[in-house]
Amino acid sequence: MLVQFICLLAGCMVRPGYAPVNEENSEEFKFYQSKCALCHGLPHPRRHYAEDWPFIVELMQSHSEERGFPRLDNDEKQRILDYLQSRARD
Ligand code: HEC
Repeated sequence: MLVQFICLLAGCMVRPGYAPVNEENSEEFKFYQSKCALCHGLPHPRRHYAEDWPFIVELMQSHSEERGFPRLDNDEKQRILDYLQSRARD
């Protein structure tokens, strides 16, 4: 109880960039999760600006290649970008 209270005061709630994405039931969310939580925790869309996401997703493609994961095809990439950019930081 005390710990939780201190936590509340100190703001050790999830930082915005890591806040859980509260859309677990949407198809877009599930798709995003299925592709982007393979190597690390799922990044929140607000972690980056819309204009920066394409570069990051491209970078992740090369990480995938290095690790022998399949690259996203263009449709998959677009689907994830639509998801991220429509919810990105502003
Ligand atoms: C094959 C493994 C792998 C997959 C799959 C992967 N990532 Fe990553 N990701 C990494 C690695 C390794 C890093 C750390 C090095 C770096 O920043 O390039 C990273 C770092 C990141 C970062 C930057 C760090 C940060 O805290 O902001 C973001 C954002 C990110 N990934 C998003 C994604 C998204 C979106 C997808 C899905 C399209 C994805 N990742 C899929 C391996 C992966």
